[in-house]
Amino acid sequence: MQLDVFTQVPHAFAWMTEQRPLAAVLGSELELRLFNYRDTTPLRAGQVDDEPYGGGAGMVLRVDVVAAALESAYGGSPGHRVVALTPQGRQLTQAVVEELAAEPRLTLLSSRFEGFDERVVTHLCSDAISIGPYVLSGGELPAMVVLDAVARRLPGALTEGSGEHESFSPALDGGLEYPHYTRPADFRGWRVPDVLLSGDHGRIERWRREQSRLRSAPRETQTQ
Ligand SMILES: C[S@@+](CC[C@H](N)C(=O)[O-])C[C@H]1O[C@@H](n2cnc3c(N)ncnc32)[C@H](O)[C@@H]1O
Repeated sequence: MQLDVFTQVPHAFAWMTEQRPLAAVLGSELELRLFNYRDTTPLRAGQVDDEPYGGGAGMVLRVDVVAAALESAYGGSPGHRVVALTPQGRQLTQAVVEELAAEPRLTLLSSRFEGFDERVVTHLCSDAISIGPYVLSGGELPAMVVLDAVARRLPGALTEGSGEHESFSPALDGGLEYPHYTRPADFRGWRVPDVLLSGDHGRIERWRREQSRLRSAPRETQTQ
């Protein structure tokens, strides 16, 4: 997969490339490219944003600047999915992550300050995604969230089997994962459930399923 991120702060992504899951797939399953709008802006002195028409606080990322950045990277229309990261987008879920992870090429556009000129979203992007119903100061963290969630779905990102029974996976019917415990079996009287020490894999599996179901129930009720 080739994943391109357009940002005003490309160096913010440095730490991620050294950590799993990204480090495990970079150079094999994933090619990550970071583009700075300032490098290709047609405006003077690296300008990328401007005051909003109609007045108001904050600066808006200009459509001509984003168009120039895309043109420079792709030499025309990208021909693949271009996602604007914005609080007004479709909310990111595991189902959306699976969708994105199946794309051979993906572009993420981030903004800062007041956000994008609306024409970026309507004319230069194929969709818009929000990582949640709250406002962050920039699209870099949302881009990293998408990047991490997508990278861990790529072959070789995780150790064998560790991604199969995760929260929201089909193996758990889209529900939440059951609780995990490790040594010591008793700490301050907080005991690990006996079933997990029993060695009875059938019972353990049934207990885990039940725990997953119980944990997922309140969330299902909330969304009904
Ligand atoms: C301060 S926000 C702009 C908020 C915008 N004026 C609004 O009220 O919806 C600046 C940028 O951060 C990014 N951003 C902030 N919150 C986000 C979220 N929940 N999901 C995705 N991107 C977000 C977007 O790229 C956005 O354009």
